[in-house]
Amino acid sequence: MSKTNHTALLSWVEKLTELCQPSKVHWCDGSEAENDILCEEMVQAGTFTRLNPAKRPNSFLCRSDPRDVARVEDRTFICSADESGAGPMNNWADPDQMHRTLDGLFEGCMRGRTMYVIPFSMGPIGSPISHIGVEVTDSAYVVVNMRIMTRIGDKVLETLGDDGFFVPCLHSVGMPLAEGQEDVAWPCNPENRYIVHFPEERSIFSYGSGYGGNALLGKKCLALRIASCMARDEGWLAEHMLILGVESPKGEKTYVTAAFPSACGKTNFAMLIPPAEMEGWKISTVGDDIAWIKPGKDGRLYAINPEAGFFGVAPGTSYETNPNAMDSMLSNAIFTNVALTDDGDVWWEEMSDEAPAHLIDWLGNDWTPDCGRVAAHPNSRFTAPAGQCPTIDPAWEDPKGVPISAFIFGGRRMHDVPLVFQSYNWNHGVYVGATMGSEMTAAAEGTMGALRSDPMAMLPFCGYHMGDYLGHWLRLGKSLPAPPRVFHVNWFRKNDEGKFLWPGYGQNMRVLKWIVERSLDCGGAQESPIGWVPRYTDVDLRGLDFSEEQWNELMALDKKRLSLQTLDHEALFLKLYDRLPKELIVERQAMVSRL
Ligand code: GTP
Ligand code: SPV
Ligand code: MN
Repeated sequence: MSKTNHTALLSWVEKLTELCQPSKVHWCDGSEAENDILCEEMVQAGTFTRLNPAKRPNSFLCRSDPRDVARVEDRTFICSADESGAGPMNNWADPDQMHRTLDGLFEGCMRGRTMYVIPFSMGPIGSPISHIGVEVTDSAYVVVNMRIMTRIGDKVLETLGDDGFFVPCLHSVGMPLAEGQEDVAWPCNPENRYIVHFPEERSIFSYGSGYGGNALLGKKCLALRIASCMARDEGWLAEHMLILGVESPKGEKTYVTAAFPSACGKTNFAMLIPPAEMEGWKISTVGDDIAWIKPGKDGRLYAINPEAGFFGVAPGTSYETNPNAMDSMLSNAIFTNVALTDDGDVWWEEMSDEAPAHLIDWLGNDWTPDCGRVAAHPNSRFTAPAGQCPTIDPAWEDPKGVPISAFIFGGRRMHDVPLVFQSYNWNHGVYVGATMGSEMTAAAEGTMGALRSDPMAMLPFCGYHMGDYLGHWLRLGKSLPAPPRVFHVNWFRKNDEGKFLWPGYGQNMRVLKWIVERSLDCGGAQESPIGWVPRYTDVDLRGLDFSEEQWNELMALDKKRLSLQTLDHEALFLKLYDRLPKELIVERQAMVSRL
């Protein structure tokens, strides 16, 4: 039963019921009881495995179809009225034609299944910065994940009232059940996937996949692709950024955001634990994936985390690399495509130095350390409530947001790019963000490891023309009396033997401290062709066995190779040519002449 008198919502759900022809409609109230029932049903259906309650209370393992394990960028569409609205970095399709295609796909697509209606809020319920969406889905996996990742249920309907605005999000796994047909543990339709956004209508349609960013529509689809369009129209930013707080030994608090591409260390950085030698420095976590950033009346930028949970990369996460993430998922967590231990717990690569002698791998097969296969899929993930993170910031649900002092961009770069540098000013910072590149990870289907240009880590997530997006950034900076400082980091530089030059993880605090000092206009640096760079003595390396020689290798700039890279920047600019802000051409010229 619905608990709303919202006419538009009721008639939309009625229309969808006719179109999708589910056997049942369920309005999600978001309660624990409802969650328990859905989880138990999924256990019965073989979709979920309940983990050992003594080890991990109220937690579940889920194995997806092996063909449905990551975002599908080549099946993601921005159907703006005009092709140029989507720009050259997005797949575009004519909106009318796409609507006809979708009508065909969704017709009868929920036969034999329950249709769940999930009212959800991105951002704290009732906050003026928050936005409400309603996801209609035939996947119970989506419901229980959305319950962790967003705020869902009756209280959202109350806030929505009788005529509030919501973003309609329709999702189906795309596998209707014929009379008597038996279901599979992970229904999906890998041959026929569509992740579709109508920016003018502010609506979202997703078909054929049940996985993460393809199916939890509040996340990438609403909070980034649709929200980036809202942000352009309303003068704010929707970004693929973590938000963290830094407290100095004197008790001064500084908040920064950082944009790294998928699986490039946002969760790790957001929950960083400073090394013991840096006594008195503390990190708190506001968000690990998405930031909505708005100018305040005081001329500063304020950021909120629109999400309520973490959907984090499992492999590589351990008590050594990220204890706070490990503690966040001790209970009430969902694990997708990791391995199962014999005592009913989970395991993935690098969780412990030694792998267990026997596991059931992410495909459901027996696994032993010598079998030559990975136990967990490289893009396997944990879903955990943000409130369970030991370092969660006291202001993480503050509707005002937290004031931002610095923006950090970063990618996964084996070569050429030094550990850290600071842009000379806002426009130069936008250039640095626009021209960043990163080696591809398992978060999206495609070529692992290939270097690609990924402006501001938003390549897969910007809901409109990238040239306009960069122009929006430039304009926003101009409107601020003192825009935040802009930095670039790279934790991933390697030597000729393929070893990381920088220890990373907690040690990144040393870089962050320099960034905070520079944002507060103290802290030393010297000029270089790419920006301000810290000298060996400018960074607090106390207690770390790191020689000046090592530092110089880590920070080395090869002018020839950097010059060659500006050709990649030119290639990007050519793609954006008719909407490329002229400021960026000027920045490129300045950079080339410095080199
Ligand atoms: P999405 O959730 O996909 O947007 O990604 P994310 O940016 O939150 O990714 P996450 O923090 O989960 O990144 C995980 C990957 O980054 C793992 O392979 C880690 O081992 C690696 N990583 C994170 N921090 C560091 C670091 O400081 N140094 C090195 N070498 N690797 C790191
Ligand atoms: C990413 O790929 O950037 C993610 C994971 O954060 S997903 O939600 O699946 O897109
Ligand atoms: Mn992400």
